[in-house]
Amino acid sequence: MIYSRIAGTGGYLPDKVVTNADLEKTVDTTDQWIQDRTGIRERHIAAEDQTTCDLAEQAARKAMESANVTSEDIDLVIIATTTPDRVFPSTACLLQQRLDIHGCAAFDVQAVCTGFVYALGIADKFIKSGTHKCALVVGAETLSRIVDWKDRTTCVLFGDGAGAAVVRAADEPGIMSTHLHADGKYENLLTVPAGVSQGYDQILQQSAFIEMKGNEVFKMAVNTLGRIVDETLEANQLQKSDIDWLIPHQANTRIIGATARKLKMPMDHVVVTVAEHGNTSAASIPLALDVAIRDGRIKRGEILMLEGFGGGFTWGSVLLKY
Ligand code: COA
Repeated sequence: MIYSRIAGTGGYLPDKVVTNADLEKTVDTTDQWIQDRTGIRERHIAAEDQTTCDLAEQAARKAMESANVTSEDIDLVIIATTTPDRVFPSTACLLQQRLDIHGCAAFDVQAVCTGFVYALGIADKFIKSGTHKCALVVGAETLSRIVDWKDRTTCVLFGDGAGAAVVRAADEPGIMSTHLHADGKYENLLTVPAGVSQGYDQILQQSAFIEMKGNEVFKMAVNTLGRIVDETLEANQLQKSDIDWLIPHQANTRIIGATARKLKMPMDHVVVTVAEHGNTSAASIPLALDVAIRDGRIKRGEILMLEGFGGGFTWGSVLLKY
């Protein structure tokens, strides 16, 4: 039996930091309101000339270094993103050539904030099938480009960044299970209601920004993430106490806290980066994972639960032995 395991991780955040105090100057909000409702204190924002691929490249190079692999070792490139550089080629193809990787499969995955969980699930299946041995899996976003900076109900929530993992074939797990779900009937609760197929005029003249029914998204996220915890434990015949670390999507500390309570997980075993990163969509889970690996909290052999929820709705989890 072939398994896949995370061999190395990397993360990258743009230099520019926008604090809640900065936002108080541009929209009718307060640091207190943002912290109370979301836990967010600040977020990183890409420079004007920085694209998603620029962010992805930095994170990918760090992941490859930590996994001790070269461009020649990589035989699959997957980027999860909602904010690609171009309509085509895919951001994965752009990244591939930046890294001097040639010929292997490279494609983008669009599952919004669950994107990295989807991409890891896909990489795991490619590797388990025996066709591929070493995948570069990236979550990268320049969400600041699709945020309406005049809308206080959304602009305080999001940030830019990239996280990456090198996933290699192994004799034992590694990734123990992945659980991917979606239900498009919730398409309008969290959306950017524009796209190239509706015509460029619409993008240029109307809203091409994030629109969200925050309350409804909040309730769905809490309920859905509670269910995915049960599903993941049951599939692996594990107890809550078997999980060493929860690495959740970083949208909101109240949603993270609810999932932690469901797992009976003390908060010092939950990786929380939302205060400093905001919600970086597909980048949030790999960024959080990388932070906790690099600062020495997560150690080899520990059991990690990654879980995400996002527009679609999409949701999913990955259980793995690091
Ligand atoms: N600053 C100050 N006041 C704000 C504000 C801001 N940035 N944004 C909204 N408000 C106001 C609203 O206008 C509303 O005012 P009103 O009562 O006079 O109408 C009030 O605060 C309460 O708004 P509400 O939307 O009910 O707040 P909430 O407690 O639901 O918190 C969110 C809003 C967005 C923080 C919360 O709904 C949430 O976190 N939802 C999930 C979002 C998410 O995670 N999305 C991504 C999933 S991947």
